[in-house]
Amino acid sequence: MAKQATKAKKSSGRSGGSSSSSNKSSNKSSASSATMTSEQNTMLEKFMIDSLKDIYWAEKHLTKALPKFEKAATSQELKQAFQDHLEVTEEQIARLEQIFEIMGKKAQAKKCEAMEGLSKEAETVIEETEKGSKTRDVALIISAQKVEHYEIAAYGGLAQLARTMGMNEVADLLGQTLEEEKETDQLLTQIAENDINLQAEEEGGEEETEE
Ligand SMILES: [Fe+2]
Ligand SMILES: [Fe+2]
Repeated sequence: MAKQATKAKKSSGRSGGSSSSSNKSSNKSSASSATMTSEQNTMLEKFMIDSLKDIYWAEKHLTKALPKFEKAATSQELKQAFQDHLEVTEEQIARLEQIFEIMGKKAQAKKCEAMEGLSKEAETVIEETEKGSKTRDVALIISAQKVEHYEIAAYGGLAQLARTMGMNEVADLLGQTLEEEKETDQLLTQIAENDINLQAEEEGGEEETEE
């Protein structure tokens, strides 16, 4: 207790008990993009490049996973959604290559553990559900949405970071991909809501399995 009291005294001594203490923050804690040192900028740029390599790997990996999703799906609408997203993903890869070029870096992929894990999980889901069942479709939709949400988090964060660093062209390109991922996520929700969830529920009632 005595220690706490001393600490409290110290801190209140610094602000002098006045209400203007908020203006006295140190230089370090008030560092913003506008006052970033070149060292901070270099660190951020390195982080940015590393993150781009990570998502570049993730997108490339997806071009191999999406055809498996498509093959495993039963609903024509869902098959189509996976097929369309494969094309979109290929454009996103080209967009990332464009970003590397703008930043004067070689396009390089660095293994993304998260995407590897998400696609492994999807493969498990395929193994554990009945071929031709709507339950498998529901499971595939949820797996795909986990992927989309990962991408949304990655592109959302990177687009914002690029904007903060004054790299507007890069931010715009990342923003375009971000919108595509959001649209795909919404489309998957729609497909699930439209009929698949209901059909899967009906299917759950009957114990019969079709080969
Ligand atoms: Fe993507
Ligand atoms: Fe995606």
